[in-house]
Amino acid sequence: MGKNKLFKGKTLAILTGGGDTPAINSSIESVRNRASLLGFRVLGVRHGWKGLLDDGDVVDLTHQPYNGWYGGSALRSSRTNPFPSKKTPENRVPQVLDNLDRYKIDVLITIGGDDTNGAARRLYETEGIPVIGFPKTIDNDLRTHTMHTYEGKEIEAVLCPGFPSASKAIAEYTANLKTTAESHSRIIVLEVMGRNAGWLAGSALFGGASMGLVPEFEITKERKDVFFETVKEVYMNSPKRSLIIPVSEGVRWYDEKRGKVDVVYASSEVDEYGHPRFGGISGVIASEISKRLKIEARAQITGYYARSGNCRRYDRRLTSTLADKVVDLLLREEFGQMPVIRKMVPYQELEEFNAGSIDMGRIGNKSLPKEYYDIDGFNFSDAYIDFLSKILKRMRYEDFEYDFPVVLPEDMK
Ligand code: F6P
Repeated sequence: MGKNKLFKGKTLAILTGGGDTPAINSSIESVRNRASLLGFRVLGVRHGWKGLLDDGDVVDLTHQPYNGWYGGSALRSSRTNPFPSKKTPENRVPQVLDNLDRYKIDVLITIGGDDTNGAARRLYETEGIPVIGFPKTIDNDLRTHTMHTYEGKEIEAVLCPGFPSASKAIAEYTANLKTTAESHSRIIVLEVMGRNAGWLAGSALFGGASMGLVPEFEITKERKDVFFETVKEVYMNSPKRSLIIPVSEGVRWYDEKRGKVDVVYASSEVDEYGHPRFGGISGVIASEISKRLKIEARAQITGYYARSGNCRRYDRRLTSTLADKVVDLLLREEFGQMPVIRKMVPYQELEEFNAGSIDMGRIGNKSLPKEYYDIDGFNFSDAYIDFLSKILKRMRYEDFEYDFPVVLPEDMK
């Protein structure tokens, strides 16, 4: 019976690199299940590329029970870059090649964003290593060439596993925050991860936020004045005098003291791919709102809240659809490819016929398209809302529309 297995005697290894997402274990499980049915022995490389350095850190996944609903990565992750970087100048590619050989790995599946998959692509191009990339990021900034048709226009969107779950978490959190903002008549500036892209911050709109700032459209000295006027207007017009403004962690904001537009850094350190860490912009904006507008404002940093926790339904189905495409790539022996969804579709339509693959040379970072943002309104556009509504439903929150009769003291009647 065993000899009918197509890839019997072959080994496929999976690694996960970069920040975790709720959909990584689902991706691992989906790929593992399919690859083992094809006959592969399936290995897991632990801690990203780090698990292929020195003597390696490799586990056998072939027959292990696996929980794809559980968030994060059971294989663990790292931001290790085997190629020389400013932070680690040593070229560790020979160690990777050595271990691929020592563990007899025939095919390597790299679950990651542009950094992890970029390194995999280089290994494929320079060393001929058979790799297949698998998209992953809550930032949704990895170019997947997924087209979104809106009012007869084609917009190049992105759909990456991890984003749908993170997006839902942000919408839910915003929906909860509304009651606090309302109780205190406050403006809450909600900081959302996403690095240099604003895809994720917009999810707060589905939880009841109005307005939003993204890294793609910087707040210059001139735009800052208009921004404050708009904030005041939207706040004053809100039925309960409250407002939630999502801001991406990488927003470029004019700093009066330094006389320039910049991001707020959480640390001066960079990782092995040269990325600094952002964080703290919400505090800056909230305190300027309080000072300028004399309206109480507070900052909330969502941070890992978006990244952590269980995989949501959309992601579960997205990762299995993409894993179906991995089977196709394995059967055709098409390497240096990454499975993608071709067209933005609702959950029910996530099927393999709508999945394709792109050459990993065509990936890279993709920021929020200009069609998805209304610069004058400091808000996400209707096109963005249409994009997101394919993935997410607006949160259902009870709106308590109270209008109690005011009671005057006897002497004022
Ligand atoms: O790329 C994913 C991401 O979550 C970004 O949104 C964020 O800037 C970064 O990772 C933070 O990474 P960490 O805290 O894990 O170093």
